[in-house]
Amino acid sequence: MEKINASIDFDRRLYAQDIAGSKAHCRMLMRQGIVSRKDGQAILRGLDRVRAQIEAGRFEFRTSLEDIHMNVEARLAELIGSAAGRLHTARSRNDQIATDFRLWVRDAIDGLDHQMRDLQAALIDQADRNAATIMPGFTHLQVAQPVTFGHHMLAYVEMVGRDRSRLADCRARLNESPLGAAALAGTSFRIDRQMTARELGFDRPMANSLDAVSDRDYALEFLSALSISAVHLSRLAEEIVLWTSAQFGFVRLSDAYTTGSSIMPQKRNPDAAEIVRGKAGRVIGALLALLNMLKGLPLTYGKDMQEDKEPTFDAADTLSLSLAAMTGMVRDMAPNKAALRAAAAVGFATATDLADWIVRRIGLPFRQAHHIVGSLVKLAERDGRALSDLSLREMREVEPRITKAVYNVLTVERSVASRTSYGGTAPDNVRRQAKAARKRYL
Ligand code: ARG
Repeated sequence: MEKINASIDFDRRLYAQDIAGSKAHCRMLMRQGIVSRKDGQAILRGLDRVRAQIEAGRFEFRTSLEDIHMNVEARLAELIGSAAGRLHTARSRNDQIATDFRLWVRDAIDGLDHQMRDLQAALIDQADRNAATIMPGFTHLQVAQPVTFGHHMLAYVEMVGRDRSRLADCRARLNESPLGAAALAGTSFRIDRQMTARELGFDRPMANSLDAVSDRDYALEFLSALSISAVHLSRLAEEIVLWTSAQFGFVRLSDAYTTGSSIMPQKRNPDAAEIVRGKAGRVIGALLALLNMLKGLPLTYGKDMQEDKEPTFDAADTLSLSLAAMTGMVRDMAPNKAALRAAAAVGFATATDLADWIVRRIGLPFRQAHHIVGSLVKLAERDGRALSDLSLREMREVEPRITKAVYNVLTVERSVASRTSYGGTAPDNVRRQAKAARKRYL
């Protein structure tokens, strides 16, 4: 029973939040005249000592005391005697754990937000340096149109920006205090829930005591936001794995983020990226574990809910590590400009530019221009040439109104420079967007 029931092995991690909640509760009990000044002062001082002992590693956590709440209270009693027993007036472990866990998730959000900002800074720096670095843009992993490496980096800045705003939404909704809901029904003591909410930095007390002890929406939202972020990191990780392969050769990672093989001396494996890609599964798993644990749970508290902690801690740790590794890799990676440019020029990447030129200069409808370019691509493809290798005569056999000015739009440089629509890939746009992103996010 002790082994399956005890949570101290993992909820000891909540000690700081638990003690902060207890101090706020104690101060409120004193102010309301429920606990005397003398006992209250002893409790507050005792809680500070417990905290100091835990932080100094001089606290022996006991499984027989089940959880963090009882471990702290038992030590408090050892330190200050029977007054310790007054702390648990007008409260229960049910509102206590709900408070502790909310505070922990709130702190975790603040830490992760900071790390996401660091990742954005690394991406924006790469974007600035590579605003004019041409690379192939892909759809279906087939070369589509030339884009810039900076533009590609800024796409991830936007994704991480949404991840941060999802966390901010979650934080705003979770920031209500369950403390004072007691076991489930509220309490007959004349407590002041506004005061404890304020002291702990919550916006207000939760309105319904049953909801206060049974709600874990905030953990679900937190893990949903983390899952989406992990998926974003996994997509970037996958690109890094592709880009560092010999077949792509788009970027190079230094020895700091690659490993060698024990048998093949030439290998530079992108292990960090692969692990980030793999770890997304763990974070998603945590979300699914909590959704499944909560579904079908009747109000209010059920011990099933103790199972919310380990997956949540693990998901937060996992994402934190993934963010750190990804930020390091983004700062480390060096794009191979020649390889990127060469890859952008294959696969008829400027075919759309040619069609656009025909629309603009000859005045044909886009669909018809599309058809003409299709014929030209087929012609070039037949003997392995690029569009710019076709002679003017060959082009005119397909569409007589084409002039030699067409060659201007067939280079990848012209192609990206022309994409000046808002949010487009033109180097000037990228520089402007990088500046705007710096202002908005950093
Ligand atoms: N360890 C419990 C949890 O994590 C704390 C609340 C226990 N409440 C109770 N009535 N046993 O959910």
